[in-house]
Formats: sequence, C-alpha cells, structure tokens
Amino acid sequence: MLVTVILAAGKGTRMCSELPKVLHPLLGVPVLEHSLESAEALGPGQKIVVVGYAREKVIEAFQGRGITWAVQEEQLGTAHAARCGIGAIGAASPGAPPAAGADPDVLVLNGDLPALRADTLRALLAEHARPGAHVSILTCSMADPSGYGRILRDARGLVTGIVEEKDAEEATRRLREVNVGTYVFRASAFREAYARIDRQNAQGELYLTDVVVQAARGGRTVATFEVEDEREVAQVNSRAELARASEILRERMLDEYMGSGVTIDDPGSTYIEKGVRIGAGTRILPFTVIQRGVEIGAGCEVGPFTHLRPGTRLADGVSVGNFVEVKASRIGRKTKVRHLSYVGDGIVGEGVNIGAGTIFANYDGKTKSTTVVKDGAFIGSGTVLVAPVTVGARAVTGAGSVVLKNRDVGDGEVVVGVPAKALKKA
Ligand code: UD1
Ligand code: MG
Repeated sequence: MLVTVILAAGKGTRMCSELPKVLHPLLGVPVLEHSLESAEALGPGQKIVVVGYAREKVIEAFQGRGITWAVQEEQLGTAHAARCGIGAIGAASPGAPPAAGADPDVLVLNGDLPALRADTLRALLAEHARPGAHVSILTCSMADPSGYGRILRDARGLVTGIVEEKDAEEATRRLREVNVGTYVFRASAFREAYARIDRQNAQGELYLTDVVVQAARGGRTVATFEVEDEREVAQVNSRAELARASEILRERMLDEYMGSGVTIDDPGSTYIEKGVRIGAGTRILPFTVIQRGVEIGAGCEVGPFTHLRPGTRLADGVSVGNFVEVKASRIGRKTKVRHLSYVGDGIVGEGVNIGAGTIFANYDGKTKSTTVVKDGAFIGSGTVLVAPVTVGARAVTGAGSVVLKNRDVGDGEVVVGVPAKALKKA
C-alpha cells in the first residue's frame, strides 16, 4: 500500500513572486502538475499534497483530482512539511486510504522536481522493497551540484549524512553526489527519526534530510537509487531554474514526437506545451508555439512562425503557415490558412482556403462569438469576418471584403466590398 506526499507549502522565496512557486507555469501547466502526474502514475492508494503559502490558490488549481490536502500553517522546513503530510494518512480521501494502524510506505516528493520520471520513482520503490529497507532516497552525481544537499557516505558506501549547501564546508561542497529531494519512508521509521531532529542549522529549519540522517544513526539502512541522467533532477528554486527545467522537458517531449513520426525541423525554436497531440507525418517548421491541449492531425504542416492556442483542433492534412494565430478553433481536413491570419473561435470546414490576411473578428469588446466557414469556401485575401457569422459551402468572399455580423453568406454565394454585398451574377 503506497501513499504519496508532495511538499508544496513553500512560497518559493527565490522566485521573487507572490505566486506560489508550484503554480508558476511550466509548459502551460503549473510546476506541481508535473510531479503530481509522476506520482499518479504509481497508482497510490492515497495522494497527499502539503500546502501552506497561498493554499487556496493551489487547491483551486487542482480541484477534482482526488487529492488529500494537508495544511502546513507555518513553513518550518521540509521535515515539518512531510510530518504534516504523513499526519494526513488515512484522512478522508476519494481513494482507498490505508486502514488505521497500518504502517504504509510513504513516497515523499518535493513539489519542485518537474522532470523526474515515473519510472525513476518506480526504481526507487523497487529498491525500497528489498528486505530491511525502511528509508530510501534518490541521489544523483551532478556535474554542477550547486544548490543541492550533498550526500556523505562511509567507507562501505553507506549513507551517513546529507548536508545542505548552506551548512556545508568547502570539502563537502566539492562532493558531486546530491540529494534529489525524493524519499520513501516506512511511516513508523519516519515518525521515530522525526522525533530526534532539531533546527540547529543555517536556515533554522526542520530539515527532511535530517530525518534520513537520524534514521541512519538509529540503525536503519538508508537505501539509495542513483538517477543516471542529471537532467531529470532539475529543481525549480528560481526563475532561471524554471527556464532550464522547461528546456529539459521540452527537449524530451520533442524527442517523443519525433519518435512517433512527427518531423520537427528545428527543435531549438519549437515550443510545444504539455498535452498536445500530433499525428504522424505532420511537419512542424521553426519558430512555432503550440499551446497546451492542442490537437493536430496526421500529415499537417504547421509553421514557420505559427501560434496555435488552447482549444485548437486541426484535422488531417491541414496547412497553417507564416504569422498565423489560431485560437479555440476547429479546422477541417485539407484546409489551408497559409499567411498572416487570425482564426479565433472558428469552425472551419474541409478544403477551405483562407486567404492571406484574413481576420476572424471574434470579439466585440464584450463577448466572443463564433465564425463558421463551411466546406470548400474561398475566403479572399484581407477579408474580415465579423462574428457571429456563417460563410456557406463553396461561397467566395472578395479580397478586402468585410462580412458583417449575422449577415450570413449563403452556399455558393459570392460577396465583395465593405460591407460585403452579394455580387450579382452576370
Ligand atoms: C531541498 C533539500 C535538498 C535537496 C533539494 C533538491 C531539504 C532540507 N533540502 O532543498 O537537500 O538537494 O531539495 O530538490 O529538504 N516546502 C514545504 N514546507 C516548508 C519548506 C519547503 O512544503 O516548510 C516544500 C517546498 O514548497 C518545495 C519542497 O518542499 O516544494 C522543497 O523545498 P525547497 O525550499 O525547494 O528546498 P531546497 O532548498 O531546494
Ligand atoms: Mg528546491
């Protein structure tokens, strides 16, 4: 029976922000979302998140996720936060919490480790499953360990200490093996060791690392699993680190897309947020931004310089090109929007041609309205479609025409001018 506890009560002072650190957006979702998903992938019986600073905002952002919220009123340190989390074991939760009196294993995870993979957490749990393991931690040997706690080992290689950088002497600082911020404790082992820690350190806090050290001193074996790829352990303490974490996650996701048959001409200038689906055979050209949840079919071409915003769905074979922004719109098969256009709140059919410089004027200053363009329509360059409006199947708008709201264009009709009027057939 596994319980996960994510520590997310800190303000994140080094972010210099009123917004709690765990809510800063990272690839379109909060920093905490990334750790939460890794924890969820383990199928825990209960998932607990410890909140404190601006807790209403954090709880609000993760409504309906089946989380047990534990409150740390005062941020006294990571050990105290973990204690608050462990205290909530068995508290009402939608999952199947462990029975009272049980001694579950608890995975405690810092909320600022967004690049950690679920597989790595599984490997740590496997290490912990060996006979006699009561405390297990992730470590990593880093080229640049600054900002992390350093691991001390004895001659036999057993962990004897974890020293925070602020408390470390020069020689300790030179150690490369760091504490990742991910631990598994048998709940009873945690409680026993917690009772023996104090706040005699540079930050005057209750350190979770000291719980590990006290457990070792109390005769418990501290098992370790070493993370090979140091990019996985990127933590977010500052905005510079946030940017670095974003880079790492982005690179990983782009590799996955390419592995599934998507061509990405220039990964370095392609920004794709979390939860985007892209079909095989699609090509993404440079300087393109694709936001969270966008769906792109197979065999599409997107970019260069394209911005696809949330709520956008491109069917197969769609082409969206230079300086085009699409927001909350569905675009049908083989439709082309190649140059300099804004398509907002649109429902666009199949085989439509949207000419250069077309604007879907979806906002009148108060409400956003929908524009429908049906199959086979041809929208002339520089057309403004003032929503709500419908352009019929195979209809044509002349270059520079302004189609006013509710002045629907009939199937096959040709309209021109400002405001657009039907062209009399010769
Ligand atoms: C911590 C570790 C350090 C490790 C590093 C790696 C300790 C003492 N140090 O340092 O060894 O190398 O992570 O990621 O644990 N939090 C609370 N309540 C508090 C304090 C913190 O919930 O009272 C939460 C924060 O919101 C954050 C997490 O705990 O999500 C870690 O805190 P942070 O301040 O980032 O610790 P580090 O200084 O990075
Ligand atoms: Mg940190």
